[in-house]
Amino acid sequence: MWKGIIEEYRKFLPVTDKTPVVSLCEGNTPLICAQTLSKLVSDEVYPHTKKSSVGVYLKYEGLNPTASFKDRGMTVAISKAVEEGRKAVMCASTGNTSASAAAYAARAGIKCVVLIPEGAITLGKLSQALIHGAKVIAIKGNFDDALRIVREICEKHPITLVNSINPYRIEGQKTGSFEICDSLGDAPDFHAIPVGNAGNITAYWKGYKEYKAANISKRLPKMLGFQAEGAAPIVLGHPVKEPRTIATAIKIGNPASWKQAEAARDESGGLIDMVSDDEILAAYKLLASMDGIFVEPASAASVAGILKLAKKGFFNVRRQKPDEQRMRIVCVLTGHGLKDPDRAIASVDKPKVLEPNVDLVLKEMGL
Ligand code: F0G
Repeated sequence: MWKGIIEEYRKFLPVTDKTPVVSLCEGNTPLICAQTLSKLVSDEVYPHTKKSSVGVYLKYEGLNPTASFKDRGMTVAISKAVEEGRKAVMCASTGNTSASAAAYAARAGIKCVVLIPEGAITLGKLSQALIHGAKVIAIKGNFDDALRIVREICEKHPITLVNSINPYRIEGQKTGSFEICDSLGDAPDFHAIPVGNAGNITAYWKGYKEYKAANISKRLPKMLGFQAEGAAPIVLGHPVKEPRTIATAIKIGNPASWKQAEAARDESGGLIDMVSDDEILAAYKLLASMDGIFVEPASAASVAGILKLAKKGFFNVRRQKPDEQRMRIVCVLTGHGLKDPDRAIASVDKPKVLEPNVDLVLKEMGL
């Protein structure tokens, strides 16, 4: 039975026999081969062949216990906080971190305080933080303002900060790379990921490097990070004062792990690019309607990103020789679509309301 990422990857994590493991059996999420996406990207790369020569794999992190990737880092951060005797944790959040922190703190029996930007986190995420009993405080400001306040409070009080600047968060999240390598037998050619506060790209890159150093994998992927166009400080090269995007999870103007994200990009020979809200929404709908996978908009940024790059011919120049195994691209789908049901409803036609009559229903069915 899967016991959660700490037990499964203990030797790679900063835990000892004395660490009380606070786990919800996170991790072990599926790596799904996306048929439609593989074909779309293959058609750009090899327009004249029939078979899919590119495999796009989706790491569906929305299937973690609180429905986002944050649980991988939170199990380690909360376990270490309890080991250190802490009675309270705190975070700023665009929603998912707060949902995860609230759940793991509840399980550990410690207090959790979350600071959120007023009106800017989705219903699903807010409901999670509240039902798990966190003290939720909204501020009239954005995520960057909230994080600044949390940092100041945690520096002066015995409260553990559980945003991804907490190194234990990164340690836990790097296990996503281990699972991808375990599933594929090696690292992929490319690893695409949405970038907000930039903790996750940092974590994945660390994980890939550690697995290679341990000789479990033989190669390293090129890291492809994607920000939303209205919240793309790393792409623009300067902080964005008033970030804007429908992908609220990555609406961040001054990422805490900025330098580490640049290092992941440069060391791996990858890139960090941006995608528009329209491109994000198109990928969001495509994933749901063609590949059967429902994610929140921020998660679709990685898919929007590879589609954009494929159309520009980015993968063509890296085309492999015919005898080599097919090119493999992994996209991390960071959060579940049910986190933001309002966005789904707003993106499609509403169901029609009819009188309860068979003929009317058949007519509407178009049969
Ligand atoms: N995708 C989702 C669904 C997220 O919730 C986040 C970040 C990211 C991607 C970006 O990851 O910050 O490590 O670069 N959410 C944070 C939060 C900021 O507060 O929940 P990152």
